[in-house]
Amino acid sequence: MSLRAKSAAGSAASKAAPIERFAAIVGDKYALREPAEIAPFLHEPRDLYQGRAALVLKPGSTEEVSEILKLAQETKTAIVPQGGNTGLVGGQISFDSQAVVVSTVRLDKIREIDPVTNSMTCEAGIVLARAQEAATKHDHLFPLSLGAEGSCTIGGNLATNAGGTQALSYGVARDLVLGLEVVLAGGRVWHGLRKLKKDNTGYDLRHLFIGSEGTLGIITAAALKLFPAPRSTETAFAGVASPQDALALLNFMQSRFGSSLTSFELIARRGIEFVTKHLPGTREPLAAPHPWYVLAEISSPNAEGVRATLEAALAEAAEKNIVWDAVIAASEAQRMAFWRTRTGLTEVQKPEGGSIKHDISVPVGNVPALIEQAGAAVEKLVPGARPVPFGHLGDGNIHYNISQPVGADRQAFLDRWEEVNAAVHGIVAKLGGSISAEHGIGVLKRELLPGVKDPVELELMRSLKRALDPDGILNPGKVL
Ligand code: MLT
Ligand code: ZN
Repeated sequence: MSLRAKSAAGSAASKAAPIERFAAIVGDKYALREPAEIAPFLHEPRDLYQGRAALVLKPGSTEEVSEILKLAQETKTAIVPQGGNTGLVGGQISFDSQAVVVSTVRLDKIREIDPVTNSMTCEAGIVLARAQEAATKHDHLFPLSLGAEGSCTIGGNLATNAGGTQALSYGVARDLVLGLEVVLAGGRVWHGLRKLKKDNTGYDLRHLFIGSEGTLGIITAAALKLFPAPRSTETAFAGVASPQDALALLNFMQSRFGSSLTSFELIARRGIEFVTKHLPGTREPLAAPHPWYVLAEISSPNAEGVRATLEAALAEAAEKNIVWDAVIAASEAQRMAFWRTRTGLTEVQKPEGGSIKHDISVPVGNVPALIEQAGAAVEKLVPGARPVPFGHLGDGNIHYNISQPVGADRQAFLDRWEEVNAAVHGIVAKLGGSISAEHGIGVLKRELLPGVKDPVELELMRSLKRALDPDGILNPGKVL
């Protein structure tokens, strides 16, 4: 049905129940109402939340998203935008039985790849791995990379300002965006898909929507930055004595490789134990166990010589006593196995029982102090609790997750979530850090925000929300 035909049908149906009117915008096939059909959209990966909603809509175009938001304003219906439903703070979950979930999965066109300008224009529902593959086909790189890349979407990545494992060199999601197309509350469309590196024509609105978790508008497409594809990639697993030595190794490798050091991930020994125990096909990365591990990757424009340079650098680091042992992936299969060990860390915490999570950042130089002080605080609060710190050391971003003591009651441990959070976040504050480095605020950290944000900044955020969404329709109850 054409849009014009649809709006004619819409006016005839304007006395119909809102649900019927919403369904008419996308067509019945893409309006899910049965509990079994909508269930997958109401449940998130960490089992922290179970949501409710009246309807899930899967619009197939920006125009349909616009119609939905127009009708939402008229009927004062809450709208919860959702991409691949991989978010870790509950931002994509609807908690209102009258609300409408707008899934962007059918906005799945790559509108343009412009290798000369180094840009690619993707609709919001494009799965991140597909965006990466499309760039690769054109001998380019789209560098955003994270564990959920096989199912998370570009729209969700931008709405949450995702970070991932290559932010060290290429930046976080917001650094990879040239322009946006956004549907605003009430249905107006901001056509901001510019591909300009330089554009000083007033306020840079794209950064308002990136990281706003769907509370200010729905991102429907983005002009993304592409980079030259690296000609060689070398990946090393290193065993180190402490986070302090891992930091020394980071500084040393940055001095040797500059921005070619594209990943620098830290993993506590306990994380390797969980992975080798619970993930079939994984094995110890090094011959002997080490208290801490680093997974480092070099991506170079040079086809030759990188491996030898990395070997020499690691040998020098060993002479300096900041590395105890290291191995460089000998094949693409081994490289993938190294990364599987790293990305598998998220899922292997589940079989170990309750896990209290923190996605925190501090200035890079403070990471060792963070790990030491948080470890002491947690042990004092819950003796026997098992911290599994891991994450993006190069960005100062640690996933400070704590598994329950062996044999403890899962729920009794999880009941201490806020108490443990308060202790860890207190240390983060003292060290000049952030309580949400890359996962966002969603509902999980909403109550914490007023305690950590500058009051003027928080009031400015509330003013922006009122200006852009005066009826409070867009993802209500999230962030603010
Ligand atoms: C990661 O770095 O693996 C992700 O941010 C997910 C997680 O925290 O589990
Ligand atoms: Zn992460």
